[in-house]
Amino acid sequence: MRDLFSAAFKANPFPTLAELRAQEPIYGHLAPYGARIWYVTRYEDVLAILRDNKRFTKDPRWETAASSSASSPSPTHFGRNLSQMISQNMLFADPPDHTRLRALVGQAFTPRRVEALAPRIEAIAEELLARVRPHGRMELIADFALPLPMQVIMELLGIPAADQSQVHEWTKAIIAPSRHGIRLRQRQRNIRAFVAYVQAMFAERHARPQDDLITALVQAEEVGGDKLSEAELTSMVALLFVTGHETVVNFIGNGLLALLAHPEQTAALRANPALLERAMEELLRYDGPVETSTTRWAREDVLLGGQTIRKGDVVRVVLASANRDAAVFGDGADGLDFGRAENPHLAFGYGIHYCLGAPLARLEGRIAFPRLLALPHLRVAVPPAELKWHLGVIFRGLEALPLEWGGGVV
Ligand code: HEM
Repeated sequence: MRDLFSAAFKANPFPTLAELRAQEPIYGHLAPYGARIWYVTRYEDVLAILRDNKRFTKDPRWETAASSSASSPSPTHFGRNLSQMISQNMLFADPPDHTRLRALVGQAFTPRRVEALAPRIEAIAEELLARVRPHGRMELIADFALPLPMQVIMELLGIPAADQSQVHEWTKAIIAPSRHGIRLRQRQRNIRAFVAYVQAMFAERHARPQDDLITALVQAEEVGGDKLSEAELTSMVALLFVTGHETVVNFIGNGLLALLAHPEQTAALRANPALLERAMEELLRYDGPVETSTTRWAREDVLLGGQTIRKGDVVRVVLASANRDAAVFGDGADGLDFGRAENPHLAFGYGIHYCLGAPLARLEGRIAFPRLLALPHLRVAVPPAELKWHLGVIFRGLEALPLEWGGGVV
């Protein structure tokens, strides 16, 4: 029995994932609440599932409808109505709801629209770095990697700067693992506070429209009538807010750690800035921010990689594993190689749920990495064994990454 939730696994999941790919590519884990969860680790199988939104559903309401073998916690565990206020979003929907919800915000996230945000993102990055530059040290996550995407998504949505840290506290609790009674109650309190805050904003924007995404969504609700329910509107904001920063923080954190652990690749990048786009894709493949995708359920019995997944079973694809599969990335799959010609990584997922924010994430990376690498003699300020990774199934990221620079160190 492998523990995919231990601190040891989180510190370095890759040897265990390689074992699973070789020996048990569709790995059945019995959750504490009795459900069987299948972790899928080979690229080929991961891709097959991501492509197949007919046989694999993302709609949690399916879970309650399917009375067969599924018995994972129902949304009623923490208040169905409240839960729906933040979970009725595209990530947990199938077509036609998914198509409708995604189309409503799709326009705001096209590469062209996102590119227009570059000057503002650059200004935020410069501002954050200006605060720490004179000190010769910073804690990357708290000082830069988290506030950068958080401020960007807040400004995009229209959430005032003064409310940022409070909103972040609420959403942290929303995504925290909810295994214990206390956590669940705490989570419920936070969801309630977040929902009340966001709904007050809707009323405000309804009365005084502004040039922001929340106004655009409120107007879509008004014009379309049945296009967007109040729960969907609230859920959309929750989804964009959480996905908008909880991922990019780890893109920057994991990415910078990988860069500093591979000085020869970093030297090649410094010598040739044109490598940046390719380097970022390789960083996303090598140690991307989303370790395991969100839950899918089998709508019918499916035979995959020699294993029968029963109707109603929970399925999770391990993107971090697919991205290290030698069957696709060759013998060097465990290495960081900016010279990699073909890189069909799955860090942003695949198919209809492919990351909506990929252009924004790439833009933030393009602005962040060169500025960080420009800090002279940049290095990690603690021994590698002291770095702690977040426990939690979906995201892969560091709790903190202390850095220092300057001081004449080569
Ligand atoms: C490097 C950073 C990011 C990574 C690695 C990432 C990864 C992913 C992945 C893997 C999925 C699909 C999950 C699944 O199929 O279960 C996804 C979906 C999504 N992402 Fe991202 N993401 C990133 C940044 C962002 C940003 C900045 C936003 C901005 C709003 C965003 C918004 C979304 C949304 C809305 C979805 C749901 C799309 C759908 O269901 O159609 N992501 N992301």
